[in-house]
Amino acid sequence: MAVKQKTVFVCQSCGQESTRWLGKCPGCQSWNTFVEETNIVSPASDSPRGLVANTERPVLLQDVVGGHEARYHTGMGEFDRVLGGGLVVGSVTLIAGDPGIGKSTIALQAACLLSGQGLKVLYVSGEESTAQTKMRAERILKTPAASLYIVNQIDVNAVIEFINTLEPQIVVVDSVQVVYQSGLGSSPGSVSQVRECASLLTQLAKSRGIAMFLIGHVTKDGAIAGPRVLEHIVDTVLYFEGERYSAYRVLRSVKNRFGSTHELGVFEMTSSGLAEVTNPSEIFLLERSKESSGSVVVPILEGTRPFLVEVQGLVSRSAFGMVRHKAQGFDANRLALLVAVLEKRVGLRLEDQDIFLNIVGGVRVEDPAADLGVALAVASAFLDKPVPADTAVLGEVGLSSEVRSVSHLVLRLNEAEKLGFKRCIVPKNNLKSKNEIKLKTLQLIPVVNVREALDVVKG
Ligand code: TYD
Ligand code: MG
Repeated sequence: MAVKQKTVFVCQSCGQESTRWLGKCPGCQSWNTFVEETNIVSPASDSPRGLVANTERPVLLQDVVGGHEARYHTGMGEFDRVLGGGLVVGSVTLIAGDPGIGKSTIALQAACLLSGQGLKVLYVSGEESTAQTKMRAERILKTPAASLYIVNQIDVNAVIEFINTLEPQIVVVDSVQVVYQSGLGSSPGSVSQVRECASLLTQLAKSRGIAMFLIGHVTKDGAIAGPRVLEHIVDTVLYFEGERYSAYRVLRSVKNRFGSTHELGVFEMTSSGLAEVTNPSEIFLLERSKESSGSVVVPILEGTRPFLVEVQGLVSRSAFGMVRHKAQGFDANRLALLVAVLEKRVGLRLEDQDIFLNIVGGVRVEDPAADLGVALAVASAFLDKPVPADTAVLGEVGLSSEVRSVSHLVLRLNEAEKLGFKRCIVPKNNLKSKNEIKLKTLQLIPVVNVREALDVVKG
């Protein structure tokens, strides 16, 4: 049978294809990421797709049994929640992140916990030797798990063979960028290889009902294909992020066919693996200087999870002709709008003031419920009037300075109460509905506009 040869240039960052080399990718705007890839498509007979048995026939939707997905639970609450309540049988989850962030650690931890429940787990380690993985496992787990198999292999055909003979319930492939398929012309790590291997493994996971983790490195220079080229192939995409010099790590779900996205899990890297942080609010508020002007605590929401974050404002008279407005962790345009509301509607004379805003702890706040907190942080800094340390602030602010209602009020209030806040400024509109809000100690202060909220602060 004839061998078809195809040469294309592929962006290693987003997978955009072109017939000629391009300096800048029109898809993702990154520079110098195009690499020539030769895909030698071998005859169908010796293709490894033959190894992936697929005997599905069309059936009537009404005859399909099940519909409620079975899930495995790792027992790591933060991890299970980000997955949407456990690992779905027959699903593929991509864990993506910068090199060294802790992807292998979290995957191995999950593998250990799952095998501890008697599930058969295969950990394919393409980057580290089996001895290295053993050492890591000993660091994170004192007793070795009984049904955890480990193999150092990067040939995807061999991996598929192992899976077919071992019949594990859970498979981890670390990482998807080092496995390759020998029949394909392009080098390991290229877009064609990564895509081909991932789709082969995905098919296998679906047909055999295996819960599979693929680990993918995020790369900046385009030397190997980024995890973005896989996002449409897999069921769930989790990004593992963190500041380089902080021990805290955040696991964020950006795609989930079996649960909510924007779900967040917080971990701390310790000398014995990743530890769950079940009370992130306490950490974000740890170093708060109470009773200082310009500091406001806001209960924001990430996915279904409430968080308390500290918003800090600093206002000082500008030494130059042009004032500066700078925001860290908050949208600069939104800050400009809130400053304009404070000037025009509340009457604060901010036009010759430099304004700085910071969300503590390196978090990025996009939740509109933080608007009123931001406005009060700026106003409190300007007037040098501290917001009482036991008072949290909630509300979206409109252009005519009205305070608009926020979503999931009760979740947010419960979190504030749990952390010992005594009072919370809330939008009056939120309290209109007849549904009673049951709170033990937290006192609610309803406000209609920003001026009313500021009056509460001024006392
Ligand atoms: P790793 O999981 O190898 O990262 P990735 O797979 O994302 O490249 O983890 C890397 C870092 O984590 C490494 O610098 C060492 C550190 N680490 C700990 O601090 N404690 C531990 O128990 C382990 C296993 C790793
Ligand atoms: Mg690794």
